[in-house]
Amino acid sequence: MNGLPQPPGNRLVGHLWRWTTDPVGLLEAGAGTGEVFQLRLWRPVVVGYRPDWNRAVLSDLETFRNAGSLSDLTPYLAAGVVHSDVPAHDQRRRALNLHLHAGRVQEWTGRLREVVARQLPRGRFEAVAWAERVVRGMLNAVLFGDAVPERLLARFLAPLQRSIPAPLLPRPRLFRRMEAAIGAVVADPVPGTLAAALVGVDGSAGAGEASDAALGTADAVEELRVMLAAGYDTTTYTLAWALWYLAAAPRWRAPDLLPAVIDEVTRLYPAGWIGSRVVSRDVQVCGVELPTGTLVVYSPYLTHRDPRLWPEPLCFRPERFAAGRPAWGFIPFAAGRRSCLGACLARAVLRVALEPFCAGELVRVGGDATLKAGVTLRPRGPLWISWTPPQGLT
Ligand code: HEM
Repeated sequence: MNGLPQPPGNRLVGHLWRWTTDPVGLLEAGAGTGEVFQLRLWRPVVVGYRPDWNRAVLSDLETFRNAGSLSDLTPYLAAGVVHSDVPAHDQRRRALNLHLHAGRVQEWTGRLREVVARQLPRGRFEAVAWAERVVRGMLNAVLFGDAVPERLLARFLAPLQRSIPAPLLPRPRLFRRMEAAIGAVVADPVPGTLAAALVGVDGSAGAGEASDAALGTADAVEELRVMLAAGYDTTTYTLAWALWYLAAAPRWRAPDLLPAVIDEVTRLYPAGWIGSRVVSRDVQVCGVELPTGTLVVYSPYLTHRDPRLWPEPLCFRPERFAAGRPAWGFIPFAAGRRSCLGACLARAVLRVALEPFCAGELVRVGGDATLKAGVTLRPRGPLWISWTPPQGLT
């Protein structure tokens, strides 16, 4: 590991200062030094971004483990399935996967459409604030049947929208209030919601699966809280960016083209811009020796902007997906057995929220779309957009 290339840093504090002020610039500088490089943060970190690095780090769950990784730094993610490792992780994922696959998510389309219809903006609006509201509403509808008070939901999720260290601070009282609210939902869940499915009261698991698929009350509460947090800011910022691009690209404003638009937005702006693991045994990856205990990082952001995989990577060109995608080179939702649990739900939320804007007049007004990286990648904002609905909808 010693001898790996590094971007320029300070002799005393290494890369820590730049990490806190300009982490994306630091990653880009590191990628310029080599395909696998080292950063000196509060501890050494080894970063790679080529497909063979992604394959190794994301597919060998015994060697590359989540416990002790960067997600442990925030109470929002240091719990539930995110925090577990094999073999417990496999068992929990199997149970959760049964409720979040494409077919199941499809059943929620009507609920999602209702939320969007209630919140459609008119005229000039700020896309990030609108996306925050509508994604909160959509997650509340699908997970809890709208039963969690919007004010509590907004308060619980607000720190995720603020700069670091806000999302990393413990908030035991707020978490207890949120867990009590989710607990009340789980005790008497609205039929057809994810809460009902997780505790097995809506028969959604199907014959023979019920015992595997239902969770105990405490586990269901914890998993729902983690899904809420993992799904909120990620989906919100992706939606804001997608609107921003759609407003400047009329030819992509058609419902059947939205999946390619969503792919391209998540390529350019993967909300999960880095992911990390801790190495559980000495291992060699891409010719680099990684001793037990090493913190390793994969970066969808760097992978998605590698011109060897994505020609003219900075251009917004949804048509590029017609040619397929490079293996382990398109990972906005990671990949493998611990890829994003909510990927189908996130895509459905994005599609349903964007659909209305395919009709009428959508125009970029102005704002600041430069990148800002915290726990997730977001546009600095504001992003002002104007939408005039088609006649008949006004
Ligand atoms: C555009 C929106 C989203 C993006 C870009 C995204 C991205 C990701 C990524 C990259 C990972 C892997 C993290 C790692 O390697 O440590 C992940 C995991 C996860 N995501 Fe998402 N996500 C999104 C939406 C959602 C939603 C809506 C949910 C709610 C169900 C969700 C729940 C989860 C969970 C529970 C995990 C952990 C899975 C595991 O460890 O087995 N995500 N997501």
